[in-house]
Amino acid sequence: MPPGVTGTTARRVPGRHGQLPEVVGSGTAGWGAGVVEWAVPPPGRREARTQTRAGAAVVSPSLPTDSNRGTMVEPDPLPEQDPCARPEIAAFCPRVEEMVSSERYEHIQRVARLAVAIARANGFPKADAEAACLAAILHDAARDLSAEELFRLAPPENALEERQPLSVHGRAARVIAASWGVDDARVLEAIEGHVFGVGLDNRIGMAVYIADVCEPGRGVNDDIRELAMRDLTRAYEKAVGSKVQYLRSKGKSVHPATLKVYEQICH
Ligand SMILES: [Fe+2]
Ligand SMILES: [Fe+2]
Repeated sequence: MPPGVTGTTARRVPGRHGQLPEVVGSGTAGWGAGVVEWAVPPPGRREARTQTRAGAAVVSPSLPTDSNRGTMVEPDPLPEQDPCARPEIAAFCPRVEEMVSSERYEHIQRVARLAVAIARANGFPKADAEAACLAAILHDAARDLSAEELFRLAPPENALEERQPLSVHGRAARVIAASWGVDDARVLEAIEGHVFGVGLDNRIGMAVYIADVCEPGRGVNDDIRELAMRDLTRAYEKAVGSKVQYLRSKGKSVHPATLKVYEQICH
């Protein structure tokens, strides 16, 4: 049983890449109160690896050591090196990994590491940095689902969404996260808002949004990443502005929710 999760399961039906895992168990999941249902991770390898992640000492090479006794100094508990090292988050990692391509999962992990780094650099309380990490791990959970599955989870709300099923993948991921027991409204809003943006009162969502657009694997927006370490709000304004300008330069429609955020922060 993944850390932070209790309950019983009847059978395992792991999801495959691009499909929702079947919900076959019930119990309680960490990061939220209440009894919920969850999709059980597949047996064997993934559970063992989750335990390895959760149990492994994550030690930065720069951490000091006690050379006299040859023992490592206790590593920082936040998952800057491995976002899935924290028990509260480790329970969600294999579920997300089942649903996305390996490349997408690597992106998700980079976003989580960067979101934590941004949170720390901007003085987030520890709990908020952890919330940003969780939102980042979950933000693209629905990104590789089919259009049919996306619309089942998040029915289109306007013509643009009907034309572009992927535009609802943030809202669909929010639905999935809630079904897995996540009930922190800031985390849920951050998951949904990574596509269209969040209000300036949601610093967790801002950190995730920024991390998504400038994680190192994208190879762009290094300036935003650097700015985010000094000024969260300005980096967020720049990230939203650059997305709107990019869409306009390509002649693509800008979602009304994005425009609303853009006008709130850039005008
Ligand atoms: Fe996304
Ligand atoms: Fe993403």
